[in-house]
Order: sequence, then C-alpha cells, then structure tokens
Amino acid sequence: MKNLKEKLFLTIGEINERIITIRRDLHAHPELSGQEEHTKYLVKGILEVSGYQIKESNKHFGLIADLMVDENAKTVAIRADMDALPIQEQTGKPYASREKGIMHACGHDSHTAIALGTAIAIAAHKEELPGNLRFIFQPSEESKEGGSVEMIEEGALEGVSAIFGLHAYPYLNSGEIGYKYGVMMASADVFSIEIFGKSAHGARPHEGVDAILVTSMIVNSLNHIVSRMIDPLHPAVISLGTIEGGKASNIICDHVLLKGTVRTINEEIRNNIPQMMEASIEGISKSMGAKYKFDYEFGQPELINHEKIVNIIVDEAEKIIGKEKCIDLIDPVMGGEDFSEYLKLVPGAFFRLGTCDEEKKTCVPQHNSRFDVDDDALQVGMKIMGASALQFLIQSNSLYKKEHDA
Ligand code: NI
Repeated sequence: MKNLKEKLFLTIGEINERIITIRRDLHAHPELSGQEEHTKYLVKGILEVSGYQIKESNKHFGLIADLMVDENAKTVAIRADMDALPIQEQTGKPYASREKGIMHACGHDSHTAIALGTAIAIAAHKEELPGNLRFIFQPSEESKEGGSVEMIEEGALEGVSAIFGLHAYPYLNSGEIGYKYGVMMASADVFSIEIFGKSAHGARPHEGVDAILVTSMIVNSLNHIVSRMIDPLHPAVISLGTIEGGKASNIICDHVLLKGTVRTINEEIRNNIPQMMEASIEGISKSMGAKYKFDYEFGQPELINHEKIVNIIVDEAEKIIGKEKCIDLIDPVMGGEDFSEYLKLVPGAFFRLGTCDEEKKTCVPQHNSRFDVDDDALQVGMKIMGASALQFLIQSNSLYKKEHDA
C-alpha cells in the first residue's frame, strides 16, 4: 500500500500540466504590488473548489486558505507571494506578459502556482492528513513595506506551528534546490538624507553654503563606514541609489536629496549603522554650515532559517531529487525577502528552487526583462513543499506516527 507522500506525488504528477497552464496564465497577466486582484480571484476560485476555507482581507488582495482536519492537531503553513514588477517583458515567449510595463520578473507566478498545486494535491488526501494546512497567498512582497507584515497583523500565523516558503532561483539548475542553515538573506532598510545649504552666485561661493559639496563629502564618508567601522567578517552594504539637487550651472546649490538602502545580516550591526551614518552626516554638515534631515526606516529583518525545519526540507528533497541535487548554499545573499517576518515569529525555512535550463532560456537573473522559470521545476517545488509540510505534521503528531508505523 502506498503511503501518504507517495499518493501525494501521484496526484502532483496528475495535476502538473494544469499547474503549468496556471503558471503561464499568471505570467501573462502580472499585477504590481497591491494590485493582485486577478491573481487573488484565480487562487480563491481554485482553493474553494478544493475545499479550503478562505479568509480574505478588505485592505489588500492577500488571502489565507485553511484545510482543517483536527482542531487539536498542529497546523503547518505554506506561503507564496503573488506580485510582479514594473518591467517591460522581453522574453518573446508565447505566454509573455500582456500587461505593458509589468512583468513576473522575480518568479512569483511560479511561487503562486506551486503553492496552489500543493494545496490541490494535499486536499485530495484530506481524510489521511496528520494535521492542518494553511496556505498564505501574500501580496506586495516587492513593496518597500512588504506584504507579510499586514498578513501577520491580520492573523496569518495564528495557530501555525511551522512555515515553509521557496523562491525560484536561476543560479541553480532546474531539478535542484538550494538550502541554507541560519542566516540566508539580509535585512533591508531604506534611508533618505536632505542637505540644506544656501544659494549664491556660482562666482561667489563664499556667500552661500554649497549643498553639493557637503553632499559629496557625505557620500564619501558613508562609504567609509562599511570599510573602516564595521568588522570585515560581518557583511554590510550601504548603497546610495538616487541623488537630486541643483538648479543651474551658475547657482550654488541649496538643497540635495539622497536616497539609499542598507543591508546587513547581523542585528547588532544593523542597529548601530543609523547612528554611525548620522554622526558622519551631522559632523560634515556642521563643519560646512549646512543643515540636514536624516530619515532611517527599518525594513525587513534578516531571513533566518530554523535548523529543524531546514533538516526536514533537506531530508525530503534528498528522497525526491537525490542528494547530489540538494545544494548547501553556504553563503547568505544581501538581498531582502519579507518571508523573514514570518520566521521571526514561528519556526520555518525558505529554500531556493533551481529554475535554470539553458535551452529554455531560463537562466537569466531575476528582475531582468528576459527572466523566466523552467516549468519542469514546478513539480519539484510542489513535491518538496508538500512532502516537507506533511513530514512536519507527521513528526509533530506522534499518535499518527504510531498508527501508521504499525
Ligand atoms: Ni522575489
């Protein structure tokens, strides 16, 4: 007799073509952060038919779908993000975006399709489930605030004992996965700096306060924080992304606005950086007779995977795709991901799903107009996601284990 996971894999095989079609439909109709309406209704319709109880929000297009089998059993959550990016697609594929200037260039279409497929396949075996399932379809992952915070505030993690998430990854081959113990991704903060000088004739600089010169000294000094004030063994990035200021070639500039981002993988360093930045901005401004305004906004925290949950993913993945296709990623990356908000509150783990296939042209980096995922990776994602979630429930429900081992 087949066990639950074997039955799940069979069902996943049966629905695979349908999930690929759904993924391509989502890809053709991408929606920006906060506008995921079509995506939400597509997801909702499918989940309702599969027997899920849906909780919607009136503030955004995220939804929570529950499959409750036993109130006393544990609940495991699987999260998918649904939003796309403001990029004009250039893949030329038949299912390329039909929306001008909007594109699934981060693979969130595949995340949504994989979670949907996993949900359908698991629901097909409802009577045998060792616990409860929750699927979190989240909006606005790409937005600065991150949609996960709102979902959590609205109860997405209530009663949840563990959470799983994945991300398409063009740096690994389709059929492989990447896992990482501990810190996997960086925190992502944003800041803005305004420098107020005094305008004057360009020929008489001594009568003004040159906000451009002050800014140039600040830019220079901010770049010394990471190289000279932070332990080189702890990665950190301070990047300025925009600079605006000045009106004419012969006027001393009286106002400059700078915007940037800070990434770290260490909470203590992260907390120290704003003070280090401000000390520098303040000192330079003061010495030059300028005034400043400094705003620092803490965004997503570092993404820290929980060892026990990573172990579950690796164990299941090794059985499904083989040990050699499970890659220990070793180094964290400095990109941010708002899945980290869930991991601050419940044990869980995020893993990378390889989507690169040279022939299918799916090895292009994310956020690029030629990005796409290999549809053959969807099945791998569904199987590992589904098996890992079930394994967590089996492990945490010893009664079920005894019955089924006997
Ligand atoms: Ni993404």
